[in-house]
Amino acid sequence: MATGLLSLLALPSLASAYSWKFVEAPKQCSNLSITISGNDGKPPYRVLIVPFGSTPLPNNVEARKILEVPFNGSDSNTVSFKLNYPANSQLVAVVSDSSGFASGGTSVAAQVTTSSDSSCFDASKSVDRAPFVFSVEPPNQLVQCQSTRLWWDKTLVQGNPTFLGVIPGGESFVVPEGSITDVQAQGTGFSWTPAIRGGTTVLVVGGDNRGNGTGGSFLATVSNGPDNIGTCLNSNSPSSTPGTPAGGAYQTGVDGSGTGGGSNGGGGTNVGAIVGGVIGGVVALIAIGLLCLFFWRRKRVHRERKERPMDLEDDDDDDERGAADGRTHHLPDGYQPEPFTVPDPTIASTYLDDGLTSEGRPLSGYSGTERSGTPDLIHGGAPTATSSASGRKGPLRQMRPVNIIQHDDAGPSEAPPPADDVETVELPPAYTNIRR
Ligand SMILES: *[C@@H]1O[C@H](CO)[C@@H](O)[C@H](O)[C@H]1NC(C)=O
Ligand SMILES: *[C@@H]1O[C@H](CO)[C@@H](O)[C@H](O)[C@H]1NC(C)=O
Repeated sequence: MATGLLSLLALPSLASAYSWKFVEAPKQCSNLSITISGNDGKPPYRVLIVPFGSTPLPNNVEARKILEVPFNGSDSNTVSFKLNYPANSQLVAVVSDSSGFASGGTSVAAQVTTSSDSSCFDASKSVDRAPFVFSVEPPNQLVQCQSTRLWWDKTLVQGNPTFLGVIPGGESFVVPEGSITDVQAQGTGFSWTPAIRGGTTVLVVGGDNRGNGTGGSFLATVSNGPDNIGTCLNSNSPSSTPGTPAGGAYQTGVDGSGTGGGSNGGGGTNVGAIVGGVIGGVVALIAIGLLCLFFWRRKRVHRERKERPMDLEDDDDDDERGAADGRTHHLPDGYQPEPFTVPDPTIASTYLDDGLTSEGRPLSGYSGTERSGTPDLIHGGAPTATSSASGRKGPLRQMRPVNIIQHDDAGPSEAPPPADDVETVELPPAYTNIRR
């Protein structure tokens, strides 16, 4: 549904400078008349009638020929010619004026209705083959935006062949011809990259100096290809379109390739549907955009949250904090061994004097730093050691002797067994050691 809306948005304007219609539904062996309405066309007009679908005749007898008929009667806006097609076959009509091929639009596949007259074709024998044939390589397929070679036998062609792309109910076009080359086993031909949306039904009609259609036609449904390459497409790229086809109202094909059409002048009947589709499409686009924005932002926030704790060594942060603390080390705070809290600045300074480096950590190694005492924060009372307490003002609280051993590698402590009431604290190697 969404893609339907989007493709509707991408539709080029189908407005032709003029419109045309079948005066009556195409009828077996009867005159087929086409009239032009509107004054914006540039005569002379002509119509290309291309057989569509399989033949209804038994034994695969094909009685239909491609017709290109000029409007050259007294009324330049009308043409009438005998349609030598059997009933229940289908055709596609393309009307052009002097401004270019298919300027009047292309009909959907129209069904030929029955009549009592069947004298115009031989149901037992196919019509003569086209004067020349062409092939496509890779064979029997057209792939969106993928190079295809159209080639032919140059001994059968008069002049340079031209190829027309006829899209039932869509915008037909002249196949752009690249440089023509001769290739072993692939005759004479050129490369063509069909800028046609996958899924589009297209008839490639070959012609030469003798007329359009003298090379026969090749029917293909353009495939998206395995990679669905869309680089050659734009909003004007031809596709089968669900809009009002050219050619007016008539019975359409039984195989579903035709969708029927209102009268060609009745484009207004679809205005409601088109406006609804456009509004729906815009709303859908906005919704998709908001959704994308939401997910993008959520992902970003998520990532930031996730990454934060992983940031073990954010040098900027660390330097800032270290400077603020007046310390010179480069380890983040979280990794600083801080086994003891020294509440009294005098004790801390003594502690440093006694055996800590100026960096505030004990000297590493098994040498250990023996302290005579640490203030006991919980139990007040007289200290048991006094060396570190010199210069203190006021009475000392009770001190506990503690052995600090800092390892610089793994292994058991080789320090002497601690004395009875001496507490031993073994510290893991400093991170600065591990780094080295
Ligand atoms: C069909 O058209 C031809 C001219 O193209 C005309 O001579 C003939 O009378 C027409 N037949 C009918 C039944 O209108
Ligand atoms: C075939 O159709 C093309 C496109 O409308 C036109 O330019 C060309 O003159 C036609 N060829 C002949 C031989 O009528």
